[in-house]
Amino acid sequence: MKIITTLSEMQSRAEALIKEGKAIGFVPTMGFLHEGHLSLMRTARAQNDIVIASIFVNPTQFGPNEDLARYPRDAEGDRKKCESAGVDYLFMPEAREMYPGKSTVFVLVEGISDMLEGSIRPGHFKGVATVVAKLFHLVKPHKAYFGQKDYQQCAVIKRMVQELNLDVKVVVLPTVREADGLAMSSRNSYLNVEERKVAAVIHRALTTAERLVRSGAKNPAQLKSAIREVLAEVRGIMIDYIEIADPETLAPREGAGTPVVLLVAVRIGQTRLIDNLLVL
Ligand code: PAJ
Repeated sequence: MKIITTLSEMQSRAEALIKEGKAIGFVPTMGFLHEGHLSLMRTARAQNDIVIASIFVNPTQFGPNEDLARYPRDAEGDRKKCESAGVDYLFMPEAREMYPGKSTVFVLVEGISDMLEGSIRPGHFKGVATVVAKLFHLVKPHKAYFGQKDYQQCAVIKRMVQELNLDVKVVVLPTVREADGLAMSSRNSYLNVEERKVAAVIHRALTTAERLVRSGAKNPAQLKSAIREVLAEVRGIMIDYIEIADPETLAPREGAGTPVVLLVAVRIGQTRLIDNLLVL
């Protein structure tokens, strides 16, 4: 595995690979890698000639009071994990080269960026869409891999690719979970032992609502209160939002028949966690 840190080397390497006729699969990440990230890399490995992963803790997608400064990092562990997942090139750009001055050009995906996560983290998806567009131009992938864990992020990126006619296929893969159902996340490392136990309730709440949908529940309010009730079984959990939404537009659903996506964001202590279930 080769590590690339400069933008010019990444771009010329990608150009050379394309000239050789290689199909490039790309997995963008912010590092502190876990099985969720690795499942994306392994699938990219199986579906492409060349796998490029990136690690870049993108400052522009963090709000002023968020966890940019303390976001967990483990460059050496990440390098080994990428290598074992079959990554060919690990791209680790520097923030000062990605953002050399004050940025003046942004990718804004209106509407879908403004609800849910966007309403609580204003500007977050502007940062995400812009950095992903930049990474696409540097890495030039044929396919790019994202996790359903960040459901709204996937929707934002798919819309960006579609409306800007970007020549990349977005592949969304299922959420990888811990044994008790907690969605894997780099931010889980913030949880203390007690908080970590509490966090398992999120998936329990979602699966409870999923069962209701499957048994014919049609009322979103009923699903929301079922989720709220399960979350209330533990102490120390604050709800940011519970939404029963259309899987394509993410607009709140009036009725709750399938297909539907159930989305939850909570805070446990200082840690913010999101999860979702798509019921088809
Ligand atoms: P990060 O949170 O590091 O996640 C990188 C990719 O891994 C995303 O596509 C995310 O959805 C996926 N992922 C995270 N946890 C997962 C899990 N438990 N199962 C499956 N996939 C999972 O998302 C970002 O970074 C950034 O916003 C980024 C797209 C890199 C732009 O900066």
